Formats: sequence, structure tokens, C-alpha cells
Amino acid sequence: CGIVGYVGPRGDGKALEVVMEGLARLEYRGYDSAGVALVDGESVATDKRAGKLANLREALTETPLPESGTGIGHTRWATHGGPTDANAHPHRGGEDGKLALIHNGIIENFHALKSELVAEGVEFSSETDTEVVAHLLARAYDGDLTAAMREVVQSLEGAFTLLAVHADQPDVVVGARRNSPLVVGLGEGENFLGSDVAAFIGYTREAMELEQDQIVTITPEGATVINFDGTPAQGKRYHVDWDAAAAEKGGYSTYMEKEINEQPQAVGDTLLGRTDEQGRLTLDELRIDEDKLRQVDRITIVACGTAAYAGMVAKYAIEHWTRIPVEVSLAHEFRYCDPIVSDRTLVVSISQSGETMDTLMAVKHARELGALTISVCNTHGSTIPRESDAVLYTHAGPEIAVASTKAFLAQITACYVLGLYLAQLRGGSYADDAQQVLTELHDIPGKITELLDGMERVREIARFMADTRSVLFLGRNVGYPVAMEGALKLKELAYIHAEGFAAGELKHGPIALIEPGQPVFIVVPGPSTPHGLHGKVVSNIQEIRARGARTLVIAEHGDTAVEPFADEIIRVPSTSPMLAPLLTVVPLQVFALELSSAKGLDVDQPRNLAKSVTVE
Ligand code: G6P
Repeated sequence: CGIVGYVGPRGDGKALEVVMEGLARLEYRGYDSAGVALVDGESVATDKRAGKLANLREALTETPLPESGTGIGHTRWATHGGPTDANAHPHRGGEDGKLALIHNGIIENFHALKSELVAEGVEFSSETDTEVVAHLLARAYDGDLTAAMREVVQSLEGAFTLLAVHADQPDVVVGARRNSPLVVGLGEGENFLGSDVAAFIGYTREAMELEQDQIVTITPEGATVINFDGTPAQGKRYHVDWDAAAAEKGGYSTYMEKEINEQPQAVGDTLLGRTDEQGRLTLDELRIDEDKLRQVDRITIVACGTAAYAGMVAKYAIEHWTRIPVEVSLAHEFRYCDPIVSDRTLVVSISQSGETMDTLMAVKHARELGALTISVCNTHGSTIPRESDAVLYTHAGPEIAVASTKAFLAQITACYVLGLYLAQLRGGSYADDAQQVLTELHDIPGKITELLDGMERVREIARFMADTRSVLFLGRNVGYPVAMEGALKLKELAYIHAEGFAAGELKHGPIALIEPGQPVFIVVPGPSTPHGLHGKVVSNIQEIRARGARTLVIAEHGDTAVEPFADEIIRVPSTSPMLAPLLTVVPLQVFALELSSAKGLDVDQPRNLAKSVTVE
């Protein structure tokens, strides 16, 4: 979910505008329903609607809310209770309805709390866990909303960000967080709260991070932070290094199209400043003792979704360069699989948002077990880096489209950098190999640009395939996660059944799916790939073609061996085999984007998804 809070000068009446703009920027975090609450003299006025923000906007045009200088807003990804008007946030508390609350996360003990309230005669108007907190807050309120919040959070279990307003304190918004995102935006005579800085980037680039289990009270004059136990605390201030323009479409028709086109820069920026004059990697930013890193004898990568596929690519690369065993674990599985972790285990988490709850919980668990933890993350001030021993930021800039593209490339790049750095630290022949790869890595942004300039045929193929019901994707070695990611993009964006397979596994079962006309993308490794892998994949193409598949082959320029067996060839620039994913995935992203547009679907906000899933 996305949340926004604002307090400014009362006379300005700016709250609705600020909150709605913030919600528009946060809508990628959830778009099942949306709502606002504005403090209006004696009472709190609310409106909330199922569906996208546009529904709320329309309702507010028909029936405007009174002008106000204080407000909160919410855009929801449903957990408890379906996406209806009644379940949309804000929720009101108390018989007088003077309190309104929005919430992101899950209150795990809400059943028990609700039973108590029902026994006391409280009537509920929604099925949400949030409404329970609204009533608890109203009951605890005695003229001081911060104090009421402090009292109520003691009884809550689970993960939550809460924002509340009360009609009797018109210049105050109170926020609380536990394991769920909340940042403060600091303006002049006005202050902001948001799930992330995008909520207020149009107004201020001065932000403040909060720790876990803290409460923040904003007024037009300032922001005060306390811990859940009531002790005073200090938030960490920082300057946001991107502006509102970076979070806008900039002439493209969708965010995803823009972000695909920003990939050369995302890779380039992620490499920037990480090598010294001799071309050696310097990762001082990790602030981890080098000896400790040299002693690492096992690496586990934890991530979800696209980030997990970046992790799969990283496994091949890091193992090859460092000879350290690397395992990739879906973050939500890691915690429950009795993982083997020692103080020489390095757990690398990968997360664009830095807020994915599954990944956060895996990191916490790894630390409890004594692992060293490094976060590969795209979002400054987010939770996962803060909960990790060290962070290696990807510099992809804000990613708004729900389906990840540029963050994926930046994650792979950062993992290469990490792998090469570990190889460099350990010395030996792999370190030499590493130097060579690093040089080639710096050529990748230019090659992506070249690739993006030649995507017209891919778009044509996609438009032609708008009615396709199933697409398969094959790859081997680092091409395998690329195939998985290609399939995921198509599922997410075009709602088409798509599967990615390791090409060698095909003959062990999935080949039964091949029937005449079945489209299959094959990610072909470059002809120079060791161990004759290229030839193996060419054989796999022949096997499926013999059974009638329509073969859509992604191959390097100059690879003529694939020509007799390809119905379509999509050419990519050649590079070292390990780096190929940074190129081969690009046509698959463009394909999914174009097919989704051809079907008239919402590319940036596919159904049922949210960009950062802050519940387990
Ligand atoms: C959600 C998104 C995916 C994303 C995954 C991990 O499921 O829909 O696009 O890959 O979360 O997100 P993260 O922010 O942790 O990289």
C-alpha cells in the first residue's frame, strides 16, 4: 500500500492537492482502492473508493471535500477484506468519527482485539484489521494523538505503518512504524509523511528516515520522533538525489517504456565510482573488514520475483569468479527451510524497493543466525539496507512501473561488481579473469543502447502475437534465469501463460507441451561460451522445431549456426558469456511491453500486483 500525510498552513487549504499528488506517485504500491481524510474544523471529512485512484478523483470532482491544511491518503493492495469502498482506507474510529486512520501492513492479532471491542459494543463498518486500530486509537485518545498512538502500538502484533488524524488536533498528523516503510519529508512551514520519498518529491527533497518502532508527529513547524517506549529519538536526515522529473514519464507513453530505455544509464551509474585509477574495484562503501569478506565460505542470495532471477544470474557469476558456493533462496522459503548458516556465510539480499517484507524477514533471520548480510538495493533510506550489515546500492533511479526492468539490470550489475570484488580480494587466477570482465562490463551500456535502437522487429512480432495463449522460454546457464524472467514479464504484463525452462530439462518432460505453432523463445549463449554450450542449445532448438514449435531465437550477431532452425532471429551484440543476460533480457522486456499494449492492458499497473509487497 502507499500512504501519504501532510500538514501545512491552515489557510492554504493545500492538503487535498498534496495528498492526491502523493497518491498518484505512490499508486504503483497498490491500486485496489484509494481514499483520503481531511481535517475540517470540528470533524474529519473522508472519501474512499474501490478501484484505481481515478475513481476517487472523479468522486471528489463531483462531491468536493472542504478545503483543509491537514490530510492523509491511502492507496491499497488488499489483504484483509476485498477491494470494496467499505474496506478502503481511511477508517474512522470512535462514535464521534473524529479520528481517521490509514494503515499499511497486517495486524496479526486483530481477531483477538476485535472480539474485545465487539464485546464492548463497538460496531464495525468494514472487514479490515485496520478498523480495529482506528477504534482502539479513538478509545485511547485523551487530547493527545501521539500519546494515544503510543498506548495503542503496545497492543499490536505484526507489521504496520499507521497514520492518524484527529479533528480536535487539526494541525497534527501522527505516524508509527514497525517493519513497514515510513519516511518524513521536511518542508518550509509544511511537513510530509510517505511510504517513500516519491510521496512528496514534488514539494521537498529533504527527508528524514525513521528507525523501527518509532512514532513521528508532524505539524507545520516540524517533526518530532519518539520510540514506542516513549523515549525521545532523532531521525536521520538526508537529501534525495533525484527530483520529481525522474519520477515522471518524460515523453514516453508508459513508465515501463521509459525505464527500459533508461537501462544503459542504470547499468552505467551502478558501475560509476566503483573502480580506482588502476581499474581495480573499490567498495569502501561496504565498510566491512576485508578479512571478514575473505573468510566467507558460503553465499546465500535471498530475494523475490525479478530480483530472485537477478540472484540466479549472480550465482553463476559469483561461483565462477570466486569458487565460493552460492545458493539462491526465494526469501519467503529461506526463513522456513532451516537454512545452513554460520558466521562465515554471506547472505546477499536483492531488492529494488528495500521494503519487500519476505526479503526483510529473511535478512533478519540470517542475522539472528550469525550471517554477514549485504543488501543490494535501489532505494535509499529503505528498511532492508538499514537492517543489513552493509549495502551496495544500485543506481537505477526511481522505478515506477510495477514490473521491474531497469532495476533488474542494475541488480545484476551490482552482483557482478560484488562477485568481481570478492574475486579480487581472494587473489589468484580468478582475479585476472575478473579484471578482463570488468573492462567488458563497462562496454555494456553502449551495447544496450545499440540493442534498443533495433527493437522494431520485436515489436512487430509482439503485435502479431497478441492473441497467443501460451509462450515458452528456454535458456541454459545464465540464459536460464533470463528465460524465467522473460516468462515472468509476459505473465505480469500480458496475462499470458508463460513458462521458463532450463533448455536441457525440456526433454525430461516439458517437451510434451510442444505442438505445431507453439511459440518458444530460445536464449542462445554466444558461440564462444565454454564447454560447447552453444552447440547444445542449437540442438535443443532443433528438437523443438522438429515437433512444430515456432522458434524465436535470441542470438549474438554473427551466430550463423542458429539460422537454419530459427523462424525469427533477434540479434544482440556479443559480449563475454557471463555478461550476456544484461543484453539478452532486453528484447524479452520489449516483447512483453508491446504485447501488453497491443492487448490494451495497463502496462504500468498490471492487475493484482503491487510494486513493493510489504506483507508476508
Ligand atoms: C513484487 C513486484 C516484482 C518484484 C518483487 C520484488 O512482487 O511485483 O516486480 O520483482 O516484488 O521486489 P523488490 O522491491 O524486493 O525488488
